[in-house]
Amino acid sequence: MSDFAELSLGDKRIQLPVITGTEDEKAIDIAKLRDETGYITIDSGYKNTGATKSAITFLDGELGILRYRGYSIEELAEKASFLEVAYLLIYGELPTAEQYATFENSIKMHTIVNEDMRKIFEGFPVNAHPMGVLSAMVCAMSAFYTGDKSGSDELNIIRLMAKMPSMATWSYKKSQGHPVNYPNNSLDYCSNFLNMMFALPVAPYQVDPVVSAALNKLLILHADHEQNCSTSTVRLVGSSHASLYASISAGINALSGPLHGGANQEVIEMLEAIKADGGDTAKYIAMAKDKNSGFRLMGFGHRVYKNFDPRARIIKKAADDVLAALGINDPVLKIASELEAAALSDEYFVARKLYPNVDFYSGIIYRALGIPTDMFTVMFAIGRLPGWIAQWKEMKANKEPIGRPRQVYVGATPREYVSMDQR
Ligand code: CMC
Repeated sequence: MSDFAELSLGDKRIQLPVITGTEDEKAIDIAKLRDETGYITIDSGYKNTGATKSAITFLDGELGILRYRGYSIEELAEKASFLEVAYLLIYGELPTAEQYATFENSIKMHTIVNEDMRKIFEGFPVNAHPMGVLSAMVCAMSAFYTGDKSGSDELNIIRLMAKMPSMATWSYKKSQGHPVNYPNNSLDYCSNFLNMMFALPVAPYQVDPVVSAALNKLLILHADHEQNCSTSTVRLVGSSHASLYASISAGINALSGPLHGGANQEVIEMLEAIKADGGDTAKYIAMAKDKNSGFRLMGFGHRVYKNFDPRARIIKKAADDVLAALGINDPVLKIASELEAAALSDEYFVARKLYPNVDFYSGIIYRALGIPTDMFTVMFAIGRLPGWIAQWKEMKANKEPIGRPRQVYVGATPREYVSMDQR
């Protein structure tokens, strides 16, 4: 097989280099296409466009494979801690015991959020959506850590890993009318988050190992997913040499959309609505198939997984296990299972290769852990943070040029200005 592709344009024939990845993925390098032919490529939604070469995450949507730095998601979710996975993503290798201790301790050194940032936070309304608050607070970090105080990239990475869970819990505390909790550095990353969420001055919180282990697993499953919408946003914003904080804040905003991370909140709201409507799943399957209804089955379908989402398989099993361990009988789990079974045997969903994605069952676990619905996407963001950081770091290390797509202009051709009284 040749290492170039040939393109004919009229009487012109040009050769374009072919790039092959370590998993034998092929790409045609069109970087010189416009210079040589005057043509660009167009690919709305970047469905078939590789934006970068990356050594972080591999996924095969047809085979349902997902690996971080070569390690299978199944094995990591089963055996690793979230911070181990974060280290793996950010630094490229699993940490030794010593590296892990240094990483964990540096994070613990930075968990307290500047009290002046609390004043910004206090201005948000009590019912503010926690994703809006989180992105604003992370963006505010770029104002706090500037100039001499900004430190190295390394320090900013640690600050983000350390402070994001602390800030995330503030919204919940405010919505409850409770004082915020400060971090407790004697606890591990997941337990510390749970403690800040649920401890009360009048009632200390005892971290249930089942809850903490489930959270650890969910965060690992969310930790990276190669060039998705929010990650591409982080890389694109970072490519202008904007700060890490500005880039991650942009990623949080991209994640908030219901077609991306916001789907986990939408799934539970959809399941609740179906339950309140008498539990008639057939009615909602019919609505999802009707293009005029404007209704989509949230938690179904994926841009790249066309067979199954490996994360969804792990999460479905985890949901069963967690609910059983905590003795919870959540009626929406039954509705979710019925919906899944109905969709998987329906020609519409089969033909379009629409399967449950990571968000379909994650909300059921979050709910069992006591996390409120509007915090679900925040949980996704905490999980995705090391992936975003790793991708930002890689973009910088590769010295990638500023991202700047082209377009095909389809607007008006030149015309003369007409004064307002003549229009
Ligand atoms: N319910 C009903 N129909 C659907 C759905 C759905 N959830 N998803 C896709 N379709 C149909 C769509 O109408 C289209 O049909 P047709 O070919 O007849 O026009 C076909 O399937 C292909 O859909 P698409 O919108 O072109 O596919 P996409 O790759 O652009 O979108 C998606 C992928 C995830 C945005 C979409 O499947 C969707 O909106 N799903 C629901 C939202 C959701 O669960 N998002 C979370 C994604 S996983 C977490 C993450 O990584 O963000």
